[in-house]
Amino acid sequence: MNMITKGLVGLRDWVDDRFPLMQLWNDHMGQYYAPKNFNFWYYFGVLSLVVLVIQLVTGIWLVMNYKPDANLAFGSVEYIMRDVSWGWLIRYLHSTGASAFFVVVYLHMFRGLLYGSYKKPRELIWILGMFIYLSLMAEAFFGYLLPWGQMSYWGAQVIISLFGAIPWVGDTLSLWIRGDYVVSDITLNRFFSFHVIALPFAIVGLVVLHIIALHEVGSNNPDGVEIKKNKGPDGKPLDGIPFHPYYTVKDSVGVIVFLILFAAVVFFAPEMGGYFLEHNNFVPADPLKTPEHIAPVWFFPPFYSVLRANTGDFFGGPGKLCGVIFMGLATMLFFALPWLDRSPVKSIRYRGTLYKSALTIFVVSFLILGYLGLLPPTPGRTAVAQVCTILYFLFFFLMPIYTKLDKTKPVPERVTG
Ligand code: HEM
Repeated sequence: MNMITKGLVGLRDWVDDRFPLMQLWNDHMGQYYAPKNFNFWYYFGVLSLVVLVIQLVTGIWLVMNYKPDANLAFGSVEYIMRDVSWGWLIRYLHSTGASAFFVVVYLHMFRGLLYGSYKKPRELIWILGMFIYLSLMAEAFFGYLLPWGQMSYWGAQVIISLFGAIPWVGDTLSLWIRGDYVVSDITLNRFFSFHVIALPFAIVGLVVLHIIALHEVGSNNPDGVEIKKNKGPDGKPLDGIPFHPYYTVKDSVGVIVFLILFAAVVFFAPEMGGYFLEHNNFVPADPLKTPEHIAPVWFFPPFYSVLRANTGDFFGGPGKLCGVIFMGLATMLFFALPWLDRSPVKSIRYRGTLYKSALTIFVVSFLILGYLGLLPPTPGRTAVAQVCTILYFLFFFLMPIYTKLDKTKPVPERVTG
């Protein structure tokens, strides 16, 4: 052992006598046994972590030059882009990171639907994931006001005014959120505070809980077989491999490929044709001039479409209020998945045609709703959005029935590799 190694081992042992360093390492990495058959879909958890770190680091650097003041905000972003050394890169990393976050998180959630990862005993991992998802939506919404462009301003105006549809307390509630009668400097200040302090804390805390809960029960896998049921004489799962070095190395490959793709977007298409950074947001906010077409950034539209599908005559009832309720329900129903799914099997590999068809219809409806939410409404588009909204909700409401009736295949005792 050379001098440096000796010193490092000494330091580790010194810390270990005062803090459970090696125990934590072994519990979560070296001796954490993960199923040996993780596939492509299992990259997106670690990629979500990578994007979280990118957002936190670039966010800290952006705040060094950003001014949360209605008179200065827009100009300070332009200053970052043009005058601050590497400012353009930091801003594009952050704005592309916001979209990348939703890409990887949506794929991570979809994996849950493919392999029944929300089912017993992983309900709490899923619920914590849903709280992360809601916090991410809030984080993105608050962040979007900060550049103080036309879309920031009017997007916030539209979303906050939705609360006004709630009977009796609606108007007071919108006023309370804005802190003013219209979106103003006061709103900008509080959104800034939530975006840089409250929500990042909440998200990091929830991610820690998410991973603690995951490591308590252990990961699911593409076969949906519980590896803890088959242990060898040494007490280790026969189908498990230590997370480190096997998955740390495998995940590094995924992270490198992701970073290459991410860099390609940052350097060659940071605006992504107006989807990641909308054209109208390069125009400073003007409270006296409403843009002709206000569309939320790409990751909100499926829910925005559900909202707009509720015209006054859809399901009777007051259109706006129904829209708000349906939009809320469209997100909240995910929480109930562990209890709505009555199938005896977890993975799509062993499910029957009913679940496979239902999931396909759901995903297609979600994508169509997303696309329509980006476009200005026409009667034809609204009709399609209404059909997709119904299909979206049927996926959840009929789930207890079709998962029970579905003809499942026998699940093997051991993972199939
Ligand atoms: C910042 C966001 C998130 C981070 C950093 C994160 C991180 C992780 C990590 C590292 C894993 C283990 C690796 C893997 O299975 O891919 C995991 C597993 C899991 N996550 Fe997340 N996650 C996030 C959001 C979500 C959301 C929004 C949901 C669902 C609503 C969710 C549901 C799950 C489930 C069910 C598992 C267990 C999957 C299995 O074992 O098959 N996560 N997460």
